[in-house]
Amino acid sequence: MAEYSNSDIRDISLAAEGKQRIEWAGREMPVLKLISQRFAAKKPLNGIRISACLHITTETANLALTLKVGGADIVLCASNPLSTQDDAAAALVEYGIPTNAIKGEDDTIYYKHINTALAHKPQLTVDDGADLVATIHKEQKHLIKDIIGGTEETTTGVIRLRSLERDGKLKYPIFAVNDAQTKHLFDNRYGTGQSTIDGITRATNILWAGKKVVVVGYGWCGRGVAMRAKGLGSQVIVIEVEPLRALEAVMDGFRVMPILEASRIGDIFITITGDKHVIGKKHFEVMKDGAILANSGHFNVEIDIPSLEKLSKSKRRIRPFVDEYTLKDGRQLFLLGEGRLINLAAAEGHPASVMDMSFANQALCLEHIVKNRRQLDTKVYGVPEVVDKQIAHLKLKSMGVEIDSLTAEQEQYLTSWQEGT
Ligand SMILES: NC(=O)c1ccc[n+]([C@@H]2O[C@H](COP(=O)([O-])OP(=O)(O)OC[C@H]3O[C@@H](n4cnc5c(N)ncnc54)[C@H](O)[C@@H]3O)[C@@H](O)[C@H]2O)c1
Repeated sequence: MAEYSNSDIRDISLAAEGKQRIEWAGREMPVLKLISQRFAAKKPLNGIRISACLHITTETANLALTLKVGGADIVLCASNPLSTQDDAAAALVEYGIPTNAIKGEDDTIYYKHINTALAHKPQLTVDDGADLVATIHKEQKHLIKDIIGGTEETTTGVIRLRSLERDGKLKYPIFAVNDAQTKHLFDNRYGTGQSTIDGITRATNILWAGKKVVVVGYGWCGRGVAMRAKGLGSQVIVIEVEPLRALEAVMDGFRVMPILEASRIGDIFITITGDKHVIGKKHFEVMKDGAILANSGHFNVEIDIPSLEKLSKSKRRIRPFVDEYTLKDGRQLFLLGEGRLINLAAAEGHPASVMDMSFANQALCLEHIVKNRRQLDTKVYGVPEVVDKQIAHLKLKSMGVEIDSLTAEQEQYLTSWQEGT
C-alpha cells in the first residue's frame, strides 16, 4: 500500500493499466464527454472544493476528470470497502486527483478514508449510500458552514437522507440523483441486472440455465436481475413485500412466494432490497446443500451473516469471492463477496454506457447547485426535469436514434379538453 499526499491506494504502479481502462470506459460515455467539453470551456465549478465518496471505478474516474476540468478541486474516497478498482485509484492519483480507496479495506480504514476526504473541507459533497453525509452530520458538523450542497447516487442513500430530512436534521440541500429517470430506469435496472449476473458468474462460473434463482426485492434493480436471469434460462422466483410490485412480478411471468418457501427450493439467492436481514437463520436452516447466496443491495446487511456464522462449524474461502460455510448438520452454503454488492466486488460494476447517464446527472446537478446556491433550501431535491430530459435527448443522439416530435395540432390536442368522441 502506498500513501501519496492526501491519497491512500494499493499500488501506484497500476496507474498505466488504470489509465487505459479509464480511456476504454470513456469511449462509452459520450454524454459525459459533451459535458466535459463544455466544462473545460466554461469552468462552472471553478475553485470549488468537492469531497466525493463513490465506488472507485473507471466510470467514476471519468466523472472525477470531468469535474476537475470544470475547475473543481476534488478528493475521492471509496463508498464501499470491496468495490474499489485499485488500478483506477492509482490512475486517479497520477491524474492529480487525491484518492483514498483500497479494495478489501476494513471498516476502520474505510472511515479513515472518508475522514481524509472530509479534511478537504468540501463545499460540495458527492455521496453513494450517504456514509459521507452521515459522518458530516454526526461527527463533523463544523464543516457544514462551508457546504453549498451535495448529491446522492443510490436508493439506499436517498432513503437515509429523506429520513434525516424528516427528523429535521438535514443541514444542507442535497439532490437525489437516483430519482432522475435517466438514472434509476437504466442504471438500477439494466446496469445492476447485467452486472449482478456478471459478478456471480465471474465468482462461481455457474451455468444459469435450469437453475432456480430467487430474486429478493422487485424494485428497479430486482426487475433487472430477474429479467436477465430469465434470459439465461433460469427459473426465476421473486420475493416481495409490496403487493403492487409482487403483482407486477406475477404478470411479468415470475413465480412469487414467501422467502421461507423459496428457501427450500432455490439454487441461487440474490438480495436486492436495501433492507436488513431479508435472508436469515430460519431460511438458512431449510436451504438445500450447495445453495449460493449473493447480495447486490447497497449494504452487506441484507443477508444475516452473523447468523450464518453461528450456524456454521467451519468456513473456508474456496475461490476468490466465494466463502464456503459448512453448517453443523453438514450442509454447505456459499456466500459470495462477503455479502457486499457482488457486481462491484467480483465484477466491474455497471457498464460505462449506463454510468454515462448517472454521472451526467451528477455533473449537471453539481453545476446546478453552484449556479443556484443562493436560492436553494435545506431539503432533498429531485433532479430538475429539464436536466433529465436533456440527458435522455443527448444519450439517444449519441446512439444514433432519432425520434419524432409533436405537431402543433397534436400539442394543442394533448393540452385541451374540448375535443372528445
Ligand atoms: N449493486 C449496485 O450497483 C446497485 C445499483 C443501484 C442500486 N443499488 C442498491 O440496491 C438496493 C435496491 O435498489 P432499488 O433501486 O431496486 O430499490 P427499490 O426501492 O426500487 O426496490 C427495493 C424493493 O425491495 C422490496 N423489499 C424491501 N424489503 C423487502 C423484504 N424484506 N423482502 C422482499 N422485498 C423487500 C421493496 O418492496 C422494493 O420493491 C438499494 O440498496 C440500492 O441502493 C445497488
